[in-house]
Amino acid sequence: MPADLSGIRDLPRDEAFAITADFQADDHPQKVSLGAGVYRDESSKPWVLPSVKEAKKRLHEQELNHEYLPIQGSEPFLTAARELILGPAQSENTVISIQTISGTGANHLAAAFLSQHLKPKHVFFSDPTWSNHSLVWEVAAPDVVQKTYPYYLPASRSLDFEGMMSTLESTAVEDDIVVLHACAHNPTGIDPSREQWRTLAELMKRKRLFPVFDSAYQGFATGDVDADAWAVRYFQQTLFGATESEPRPQGMGIAQSFAKNFGLYGERVGAFHLVLPPRAPAAGARSQLLRLVRAEMSNAPLFGCRVVAMILSDPELRTRWKEDLQTMSGRIKRMRSILRREIEKHPKSEVGDWKHLEDQIGMFSYTGLREEQVLRLKDVHHVYLMRNGRASLSGLTEANAEYVADAIAEVMRYHPVGLK
Ligand SMILES: Cc1ncc(COP(=O)(O)O)c(C=O)c1O
Repeated sequence: MPADLSGIRDLPRDEAFAITADFQADDHPQKVSLGAGVYRDESSKPWVLPSVKEAKKRLHEQELNHEYLPIQGSEPFLTAARELILGPAQSENTVISIQTISGTGANHLAAAFLSQHLKPKHVFFSDPTWSNHSLVWEVAAPDVVQKTYPYYLPASRSLDFEGMMSTLESTAVEDDIVVLHACAHNPTGIDPSREQWRTLAELMKRKRLFPVFDSAYQGFATGDVDADAWAVRYFQQTLFGATESEPRPQGMGIAQSFAKNFGLYGERVGAFHLVLPPRAPAAGARSQLLRLVRAEMSNAPLFGCRVVAMILSDPELRTRWKEDLQTMSGRIKRMRSILRREIEKHPKSEVGDWKHLEDQIGMFSYTGLREEQVLRLKDVHHVYLMRNGRASLSGLTEANAEYVADAIAEVMRYHPVGLK
């Protein structure tokens, strides 16, 4: 049958973007958006970080031109990005860094490159995971079979570490990709402990599984960029340290986004880093990554990477940026405890225990609310969150937390099915 454009199947809207559009179209005065993973200040407004404002002012004064970047991207940006996630003094011979269209572009480049050159049988995602992982791999790496590893135990609202380990142990085969969240897991807000990361690294090394760390929240989990990079750095040292020997994976990928931690969402600043074992030849992999970038976009955009590079390389601006991270992560932590307090003012027999709100970290809470409760929150109370119960807590303020808590209590009374 010849292809027929008029017969193309209509796909459902992307949930994350649909929530934002529905929220914007809602004119209810008390509407609250807990949908999009974007930071909002105390008055529910987008926040341009003061460190970013200052860098923009300085860039403006420099009257820079608008020439193309090289295919790999801006070298000062890439050096700063690489050292932010991996620590200082990284060798360009063992870490190949390529600038991308934010974290999504980095995940996409990882999928395209690895499917073509590592040819894994499977890619494993946590269940649940960021809503775009599966689509990125479906489009960029259609030959790689997608699988999930258990991540979340609803009964205890904790990490299903045993399930994760036993699934990877029994079903993953050499060169399979395992996508891991570097910190502040989206959507659950639950990260492995350091002990668990060590155990996982040992398994991945022994089975020669290829980790791809998705790092979209460095600085958001704890407010400390080094603490939030611990797992990635540990994996690099353990799998590819100079004294380490076989077996080990053929490499490790890092998809790095600067959307959240610099508030540069729409500027699309990101990088993909390919970490190789010491002394492994890097030229072929580098040239293939450049080929993919050349075909996709020729080279990445300039503006956002200039802001990030300036902040990370100027000690004063870097200090101010770290304060901005504390401001953002601190406000979200405060909102966690206020929301918990307000929900728990309602009878425990109706709303249950909301300790998990404060145990989880990062931008999100996996509230445990069920789909019918989430839909009623939107339809009756104009409070928007993802159907899986994920709430982006930066949409809360001191002014609306009580309203949201009362709305949650009401939907739990209306649908008394408990939390999942
Ligand atoms: C886990 C995860 N990875 C990657 C991204 C990529 O975002 P962006 O393309 O805006 O950098 C996000 C954003 O929500 C995310 O949550």
